[in-house]
Amino acid sequence: MIKLLFIGDVVGQAGLGYLERRLPALVDERRPDFVIVNGENLDITFHRPSPGNCGMTTASLARLLALPVDLVTGGNHSWDGPEATQVLANPRVIRPLNYAAAAPGRGAAIIAKNGARLGVINLVSRSAFSAADTPLPAFEKQLAEWQGQVDLILVDFHGESVTEKQTFGFACAGQVAAVLGTHTHVRTLDTRILPRGTAFVTDVGMTGPADGIQGYRPELFVNYMHLRLPTSDPLVEAGGAVELGAVLVACQDGRAVHIERILE
Ligand SMILES: [Fe+2]
Ligand SMILES: [Fe+2]
Repeated sequence: MIKLLFIGDVVGQAGLGYLERRLPALVDERRPDFVIVNGENLDITFHRPSPGNCGMTTASLARLLALPVDLVTGGNHSWDGPEATQVLANPRVIRPLNYAAAAPGRGAAIIAKNGARLGVINLVSRSAFSAADTPLPAFEKQLAEWQGQVDLILVDFHGESVTEKQTFGFACAGQVAAVLGTHTHVRTLDTRILPRGTAFVTDVGMTGPADGIQGYRPELFVNYMHLRLPTSDPLVEAGGAVELGAVLVACQDGRAVHIERILE
């Protein structure tokens, strides 16, 4: 049995601090073989409204990778921030595969541990990132390249639309152990095993402060809804308790046999 712990979009210092306090004990309790974390919102790298204001800094990435974390995935914010190229050069960081090949970073990685070779593929839907390529051909190409090289595969599918994520899940059901949705920062209850052993959830949810919008203070978003013009409000982390977005997937012979949400 191979167990995969996946943690959704970590938001800011609150989310990172929570993982520093909680993840070592959670790993002791649940004993996952692999821990994968989506880190696209680890930092606010630009405090003005902008599509490029999140991403990761090398300092926060170093703190995250000092924890029991095997690999960090991303999404539409993977290329945000002045240190994105440095961040994406780290072999333990991947970014969406279905994007310009010339852009920094890699879209997939194999981690070998505990007698298993886990392939992780990061994809982004065009509803979450309009500049991306369509995800299915990129996925199929990666699958063909990995033939015989991996024992099981996890896909972080970063998307806005529920239908798009569910469709992708069924499109590759039986070909991968897990399709786990990220990006909306909202935890969904639909953990299930799709036909032929693919664990699925529409959105793992964020690991970040709960009293705001997607982990951020609401003023910027509300003012933008009023004005429909760029505002000068800064993007600021929300307050409140941190909620954990996490699922644990148990796999046997490359297929998922169980998926459960870890709620705390
Ligand atoms: Fe996110
Ligand atoms: Fe995102």
